[in-house]
Amino acid sequence: MSQSAEDGTRVVRIGAEQRRREEALTQRVLDAFAGAESPRLRQLMTALVRHLHAFAREVRLTEAEWDAAIRFLTDTGHITTGKRQEFVLLSDVLGLSMQTITINNEARGDATEATVFGPFFVEDAPLIGNGDDMSFGAKGTPLWVEGRIRDTDGNPVGGARIDAWECDADGRYDVQYPDDRTACRARLFSDDGGNYRFWALMPVPYPIPGDGPVGRLLQAAGRSPMRAAHLHLMVSAPGHRALVTHVFDANDDYVARDSVFGVKESLVRTFEDFPPGTPAPDGRTLDRDWSKVRFDIVLAPPDDPPDPDAAVEIAAEPPA
Ligand code: BEZ
Ligand code: FE
Repeated sequence: MSQSAEDGTRVVRIGAEQRRREEALTQRVLDAFAGAESPRLRQLMTALVRHLHAFAREVRLTEAEWDAAIRFLTDTGHITTGKRQEFVLLSDVLGLSMQTITINNEARGDATEATVFGPFFVEDAPLIGNGDDMSFGAKGTPLWVEGRIRDTDGNPVGGARIDAWECDADGRYDVQYPDDRTACRARLFSDDGGNYRFWALMPVPYPIPGDGPVGRLLQAAGRSPMRAAHLHLMVSAPGHRALVTHVFDANDDYVARDSVFGVKESLVRTFEDFPPGTPAPDGRTLDRDWSKVRFDIVLAPPDDPPDPDAAVEIAAEPPA
C-alpha cells in the first residue's frame, strides 16, 4: 500500500510475503557472486548488491524511475569523450570522488588534506623557477603564492615537485579555449629549505560543465554548479605520499557550498589584498592591485604498497 508522507516522500507498507520475495531475490543475487575467484571482487560485488537492493527497496523504486535512471546513465555515456568525462563529474557531484579521496588519503599527523584532481591538469606544464609567473599573461589580479613544504616530523622537503594550475579571471582554464594557449599552469621545485614561491592569479569561482546530464541533475535538485575559488596544487617528492590539493579563498561565498564537496576547512586561507604601489615580496612594485597567500604544505609518509592478492581484474574485452 502506497501513500505520501508529509514531506512528499513515498511511503509503502509491505506484507510478509512481499518482504520474503524481495529478500529472497537479494539473497539469490548475493549467492551468484559468492563464487567469484577474487576475494576482493566478491567483497565489492556483494556489498554493492546489498546496498543497491536496500536502496531500491527503501525508496520503493518504480519502473519509470528505473527507466529514467538508465536513460540518465546512457546520456552520461554518450556525452563522455576522451576530453569530457561525465561519469567522473557525476561521481564528483555525488561526493563519491571526495569520499574515495578521503578514504585513500588517510589522516597522518598534520599532513595537508587532499582534494579533487579535476579534469584540467596537463602533464607537460611549463617549468618555472621560484618567484616566476605562471599566469603567462592571462586575465586576473596578480597573486603571490608562497609556502614551505615539510614532512610530518617537521623536516623541510627540498626538491619537491609542485604542479600548480587554475582558471583565469573569466573562470576558464586554458584548455577550455579553442586556441592552443598555455596559461595559469606551471611546474616548479621547492628550494633546499623546502620553500616555494610564484606569481599566479587570484582564483575566482567558476561553474563545472553544465550542458550535460550532470548539469540537468544539479538544476533539477536546485543545486549550484559553482566550484569555490581555488588554486590547484599537486606536490610530490620521493619518500612521501603524493598530494593533490587546493588552496581556497576564505572570502569566497562558495566555500560553504562547493558543487563537488572539495572544500576542507584546513585548506581555506585568508588572501591579503594590496593597493598599487605596495612593494611585493620579490621587490617588484606593481601598478595595480595584487594579493598574497601563504600555503605551507605537510607531506605524509608513503603508504604501504598495495596487496597484489587483493587486485581486482575484470577483462576489458569479452573472451573470444
Ligand atoms: C576542478 O577543480 O578543476 C574541477 C573539479 C571537479 C569537477 C570539475 C572541475
Ligand atoms: Fe579547478
